[in-house]
This record gives sequence, structure tokens and C-alpha cells, in this order.
Amino acid sequence: MNKISIIGAGRVGETAAQTLAQQEMCRDITLLDIREGAATGAALDIMQSASYFGFDARVAGGTDPAMLRGSDLVIVTAGSPRKPGMSRSDVLDTNLNVINTICENVLEYAPDALLLMVTNPVDVLTWHAWKRTGWERGRVFGQAGVLDASRMASFIAEETTLSIKDIHAMVIGGHGDYMVPLTRFSTVNGVPASTFLDKKSIARINKRTRNGGSEILALRQQSSAYNAPAAAIATMVDAISHNRRRVLPCVCNLDGEYGQYNITAGVPAIIGRNGIEQVVELPLDEAELAGFIGSIDAIRADLKNL
Ligand code: 2OP
Repeated sequence: MNKISIIGAGRVGETAAQTLAQQEMCRDITLLDIREGAATGAALDIMQSASYFGFDARVAGGTDPAMLRGSDLVIVTAGSPRKPGMSRSDVLDTNLNVINTICENVLEYAPDALLLMVTNPVDVLTWHAWKRTGWERGRVFGQAGVLDASRMASFIAEETTLSIKDIHAMVIGGHGDYMVPLTRFSTVNGVPASTFLDKKSIARINKRTRNGGSEILALRQQSSAYNAPAAAIATMVDAISHNRRRVLPCVCNLDGEYGQYNITAGVPAIIGRNGIEQVVELPLDEAELAGFIGSIDAIRADLKNL
């Protein structure tokens, strides 16, 4: 890819920009924020780390949406973050207006881009951005499952004391209290994770995974998580920019998969140069499917509030 734009120079957007630059995912990175100076300052700061890290990707910041021109990928992190005690759905009204403006700008200046949504509530806002752009469904998708699965992997590593390098976790459903951590589809280098876990540790892992973002917010008070979210963004961008066709849990627009239509939720998918190339349907058992449907119901409830 030649150019990636990140809208929102908050902690997630800025950390993602630094990571993408450091990993040289493209030639040009544009960071946009409506707050005067915020993105320009962040871009300068990142550029001044280039000689140390040895990257020559160019990072530019500003407020002008025309800077989106030529983007192959637009990543949306802008919006109000939640405060301690708030759910991700509590910021829906505020962030809906932000996303409406962003969609207009993307349609005007980057009509051929892919759109990666990160702003919460991410499932609902990905659905909304998909409808608003009118683009084919694979071009508009969201980040949540890579983060949630990486949280789950870290808790499995903690409970088993095994190397996280070998751990692959899977989380589906909405990025909220009803997300569905799937122990049965999580492995330690191919060995089912359940081999190393008893029922109590599985319950602890699932609870901490669902609560992963809130745990950090409650501790920090002034800030949601941003290091792992930025790493999750970089993982998805790497799959796209190198056309790796990785299988990653992504927020996807469903059209019959898992028996669901006209809804957006986290499911594993093949992700590559064209965005979401195929939704992967897991053979869920009855309890897993019930959990997934429960999560979908919560997203549908939020969609009614749009
Ligand atoms: C998280 O889970 C803020 O949704 C984000 O940390």
C-alpha cells in the first residue's frame, strides 16, 4: 500500500501511526484530527523517532479532510472514548455524528479506499459506516476480535504459565459484555487449550476477556487501552498491506453466514488486499451458538437506537 490515513489522533490513533510507521507498512501515513495541532504535533513527534528506529515512511498530520486523498486504507479511531463505568454503547450517540462526517469525507476524498473501523461501539458503527458508504461489504470492516483474542491469549498464558508465542485464541460476537471467548477454538501450538485448563480457570479467562477493556479503564481512570488496540490494528493492516490472507477475527457485515443477515459482528474471516475476502463459519456447538446469538441480539438492540 502507498498511503494509509488514520482519523483520530487520540492515544489509539497516534500509537497505531507510530507502529505502522515503524513497521513500514506503507510510504505515507496521514493522521487527521479536528483538534487544531493534535495530529500535526503527533506526526512530528513520530517523524522525530524515525532516525532512531530507522524507518523512512512519511507521517503527516493535519485537520483538513482533503488530506485523505489517495488513501488505500482509512482507519477510523476518532470519537469520544468511554469513561469509567460506561459501556461502549453509552458513547453511541456522540460517536454516530462523528462517523457520519467521516463517511462524507471518505466518500469525497478517498472513494476507492478500504475502511477499517475502530471507534466504539465498533460493531454498530461498522454497520452504520457500511450502510452510509454503500460500499460492498468486504471493504468496510472493524477491529475488535484481534484485540479480544490477544487479551484472551494473554490470560491463557497467565493461567497455564505457557509461552504466549504458542497460544492462539478465538473470540467472536460483539465487542461488548456479550462477546464470546471460544476455548474450544483456542490452542497451544495445535493442542486444545482445554488440555491445560480446568473449568475454573476457563471461567476466569472468559470473564477477564469480556471485561478486558473495562479492567484497564477502571485502573487507569483517564484512559482506555491503547497499546494492545494499536497492535491489533497493525496486525490487521499487515494482513491487508502484504495481502497475507490471514484468518483473523474481524468485525464483518454478515449476509447469511451463521444464519444472520443485515448485521455486523465479530467472526473469523480471511483478510487480505481487498479487505474481508471471506467470512469463515466455525462449527459452533449449541452453547457457543447460543452465546453468539445473544451477542448478536445485543448489537441489534443498539442498532434500533440509531
Ligand atoms: C477496549 O476494549 C476501548 O474497546 C476498547 O479496550
